[in-house]
This record gives sequence, structure tokens and C-alpha cells, in this order.
Amino acid sequence: MLARPGTLHSPFPLHRGAAMQHIWLAVLSSLSLRLVLQCRAEEGLEFPNFDGKDRVLDINERNFKKALKRYDLLCLFYHEPVPANKGLQKRFQMTELVLELTAQVLENKDIGFGMVDSQRDVKVAKKLGLEEVGSVYVFKDDRVIEFDGELSADTLVEFLLDVLEDPVEIINNAMELRAFERMEEDIRLIGYFKGEDSYYKAFQEASERFQPYIKFFATFDKSVAKHLSLKMNEVNFYEPFMEEPAILPGRPLTEMDIVEFVNQHRRATLRKLRAENMFETWEDDMDGIHIVAFAEEEDPDGYEFLEILKDVARDNTNNPELSIIWIDPDDFPLLTTYWETTFKLDLFRPQIGVVNVTDADSVWLDMSNDEDLPTAEELEDWIEDVLSGRVNTEDDDEFAYDQEDEHYVLEEDESPEPDEDDDGDD
Ligand SMILES: *[C@@H]1O[C@H](CO)[C@@H](O)[C@H](O)[C@H]1NC(C)=O
Repeated sequence: MLARPGTLHSPFPLHRGAAMQHIWLAVLSSLSLRLVLQCRAEEGLEFPNFDGKDRVLDINERNFKKALKRYDLLCLFYHEPVPANKGLQKRFQMTELVLELTAQVLENKDIGFGMVDSQRDVKVAKKLGLEEVGSVYVFKDDRVIEFDGELSADTLVEFLLDVLEDPVEIINNAMELRAFERMEEDIRLIGYFKGEDSYYKAFQEASERFQPYIKFFATFDKSVAKHLSLKMNEVNFYEPFMEEPAILPGRPLTEMDIVEFVNQHRRATLRKLRAENMFETWEDDMDGIHIVAFAEEEDPDGYEFLEILKDVARDNTNNPELSIIWIDPDDFPLLTTYWETTFKLDLFRPQIGVVNVTDADSVWLDMSNDEDLPTAEELEDWIEDVLSGRVNTEDDDEFAYDQEDEHYVLEEDESPEPDEDDDGDD
């Protein structure tokens, strides 16, 4: 059997923490007051542990209306019935624990948490408009916001705090303006209005429909507006990584004008994959494929590659067919090895390729032999080949088809290895 890491040197791997605690207690009891004080000075990084208190409600027909009324936000996990299988039950409990921990961390905010069983609570689910099993839905005022991100406490807490805020942020001065200008990864809208009691109202109403995924800003300040070349009642749309904004046609704008424009333009030419809405992004494919670029922004090669990608995106921003998903592997440590295996990639280097979202089949631009990264022109040529179908994930499949018989199709590089390597494993 393969030894799990951590079981090699310690006979009691799970009790390591407890043993350490004993040693600490022994050390502590012999310390002087000065050192104890120093210890106290090291507080301040206490990760929350689940305290065992149930905060997540079991939502049913009797209590859902009350729950909706009672909180500023109501966060509901819509789930499959609890499985009979022990292992799967554990998985279910882990998800439940994510909700419990989130509820605990946000205890002093006015947020309610609950679970809705897709089988037992069919009626409630229908009344609330819950559709996708496995999703989290957040109710704010009379709106429903679907959370389509990684179900971890970190991500969910961040998301809920975003939803609690006002959907429009007001920019009052040069400092706030600079912060606004630095947010190049986000889709942002900014409008210039006379004041709160003006056409700002339509803008604000539109913003509520996209919170927290699309950021809305407004200014009532003449000099801020001047700096952005905004006219009165004008709204600008900033696509991620673009230098110049698009101006929404027409002035003043109605809520629907804004909503329609955003819906038409929200699939950016270059978009960053984010934990908070990763599944939504992935579902928004281009006829079954994604062009995916892996690049670590903190790595020199990754940074350089990203700059080239931005250039390509800026050159092709008017091509509605093109959208590149940028993934920074640093943001998804739990997925890195899975991606490396699935796509047969080395993610220590920047990569770009095409992924078929049906079967995760992929082809990647060969950058291994070059000392240098591809130029923007080379990358554009390759993208053109992808968009025209010359580069695709299917050609090598057909090759496999021709080689093998119809009833046994394997990709070349997936052929089983000869037995000799398999021995030592058992
Ligand atoms: C993606 O893969 C599926 C299943 O192998 C295949 O039927 C489909 O044609 C592929 N799509 C594209 C765009 O290559």
C-alpha cells in the first residue's frame, strides 16, 4: 500500500496537534511573566473554528416566509437529499459545515442561513424559484442572487459581504478615483449624475441586478467627471483590461437601457476566472469550447505572457467570437494538480489552449521549445486558427478512431502503459 504523506514518521499523525499542545503547556508553565506576555502579544491570528452551535436553519413550508422577512440577507443552500451512503454523507456534512462556519463568522451581520432539500421541500423550492441543485441562493430585498462559485467558507463570506454593501459606490475625490482606475480585472460602470435624486435612480436600479458580479460606480463631483471625460447623465462601461471605456449610447438612460447594454457586453474578451463565480464563467462557453490561458501573475514569465494576452485582447476587443479565460493557478491551489493531470500540462509555465467543456479534451499551443514566449502576432495567428476551427480538440481524436477499431477508442497518449511500471505500487 502507498503510505499517505504524514504517516511515515509519526505513529499518531492525527494527534500531532495534541502532542504539540502538551509540549507547549509544559514549556509555558515554566516561563516567566515576560514571556507569557509576549505570547499574548502573538494573538491576533485566531482562525475561527466551528463552535458546534447550529445556526443553519432547515427551511420548510412553515418557516421560509418568516426567514425571508427576518434578515437583510437570506442565504439558502439548495441540495440533494442526504445520501444513504456513509462516504457521501461525510461530503454532505462538509458542505453543511461550510455554511455553519460562514454563519458563525458572519454572526453579527443580519444574514440568515438555511438548507432546502430538493426532494422534501419541492414546494418551497418552487415558491422561492430555486432551480439548480447544489447552488446557493441569496435573497436580498425582493431579489435573488445565485452564488455560482467555489463552495468554501472564504469565498462565500467574501461574496456575502459584497452583497451586503450598496450596489453603487460613490466616487467623491481623486484618491477614490485612482482606486477605481486600478481595478482593471473587473467589469465596471461609472455614471455622472446631479445627485441622488436624479437619473441616478435608474442607474442604481440597474446596478441591483448585477450585484456583486459587475461593479457600479457613480460620481456627483464635477472634477471627477471631468477627469473621466464624463458628461452629465452619461455612463461609461469599462471592459476588463481595456484602456478606453465604451460610452453607453443615449442620455439620460433608463434602467432597461443599462441592463441591456451590460447583458450584451458582459462576456469580456479577456476575463479572469474567479472563485466567486467560476462555474457561471465556465458555463458561458463559446460553442462548447473555451480558450484558456494559465499564467501566474507573480511569476516573471507568467506576467510577461499576461501582458501579451492583454495586447491581443485589446486588439481584438470588437470580435464578439473571442473570449479568453485567464486562470492564475495561484488562485486555485486545490485545482492545480487536477488541471495538470487532466490537460497534461506543466502549470509552472504559462500555457494557452482550447478546452472542450463536454469532455475536457484539450489542445495546447506548443511553447516548450522556444526560449521566448510567443509574440502578440503569433498568438493572434494561433487564436485565428482556433476560431476558424483549424486548431481544435477533435482532430487527434479522429486519428485515434482511424487507428483503432470503432469499439475501442483511446487517445494515443492515453494508451495503457506496459505492465512493468505497475509493480511497486501495491
Ligand atoms: C466536444 O466533445 C464532444 C464529445 O467528445 C464532441 O461531440 C463535440 O463535437 C466537441 N466539441 C467541439 C466544439 O469540438
